[in-house]
Amino acid sequence: MTRRSGARLRTAALAAATTALLAGCSGDKLSSVNPKGSEASKIAGAWWLIFALAVGVYAIVGGFIIVASLRGRRTDHGRPSRISDGAFLWLGGLIVPALILMVVAAVTVETTAAVRKPSRDALRVEVVGKDWWWAVRYPDSGVTTANEIRLPVGRPVEIRLTSDNVIHSFWVPNLAGKMDVIPGQPNTLRFTVDEPGVYRGQCAEFCGLQHANMAFYVIAQTPGMFDRWLTRHSQPPSEPAGELEAKGAAVFQRLACAGCHTVDGTQAQGTRGPNLTNLGERRTLGAGTVENTPENLARWIPDASSLKPGVLMPAIPISHSDLEAVVAYLESLE
Ligand code: CUA
Repeated sequence: MTRRSGARLRTAALAAATTALLAGCSGDKLSSVNPKGSEASKIAGAWWLIFALAVGVYAIVGGFIIVASLRGRRTDHGRPSRISDGAFLWLGGLIVPALILMVVAAVTVETTAAVRKPSRDALRVEVVGKDWWWAVRYPDSGVTTANEIRLPVGRPVEIRLTSDNVIHSFWVPNLAGKMDVIPGQPNTLRFTVDEPGVYRGQCAEFCGLQHANMAFYVIAQTPGMFDRWLTRHSQPPSEPAGELEAKGAAVFQRLACAGCHTVDGTQAQGTRGPNLTNLGERRTLGAGTVENTPENLARWIPDASSLKPGVLMPAIPISHSDLEAVVAYLESLE
């Protein structure tokens, strides 16, 4: 290999590594340095400033270490340095660090205050951390759903967070900072989404066996689309469309399902498990555990713990034809 082709190869490898690194920080990945909301932008701004200061300090201290190791111990015969040892210690050991910490403190306090500022026309949403899923309710319209939070872009939202079991943490890195979800201590998270899109969120506080499978999605839509969605879900869903779906609805009421789950406008009013009124339009089953497909739902219903070990939903003994009908019914609910 010639010297030049070796250098070219190294440059290409470096470029590929940099691209891969940057790709990890963008796209639909969970990332707090790829903000899609005004509060997230402020947090990202503070993060980049602190990062730049840290890189500066690292480079300067590293530079001094290299210079010191190259020069070795100074003797009295050496050139006198322009700055005395005492002044150097005061400056590098106290004044500069104090200035940096003051800047960081001021930026942190300012960002925190800006992020927490209440807004009068905020859309209110109540989110309850469950044993390993999220209950979602829009108190002004009474619409209830689970594991997916629809929001309009451009309007401030106020998410009231509580838990009825252990401590969880609500985190959508692209949209806002992390907020603990504590039993008996409601916390309020405020943010505005700037861009329509689907943003993944994750429970960020260890809460038991299925902590890793306690995800959710924020689906940000234009205000018009969001209003239509909210209006449609303020009314009970329409009657089952076909024969199979109607049979599924009857089986759902007859078996254990209705004891734990609600389907608005029906006799199923259980509240232990997620509200299933719009299950058909959700992306995943089990709070991000598996994709919402008829095949996965047909595996979930008889034995949910095979997909999500430790899940509170018990195994449901169900015949093949009943299962087929219930799957058709639930997937038709939109
Ligand atoms: Cu809920 Cu971790």
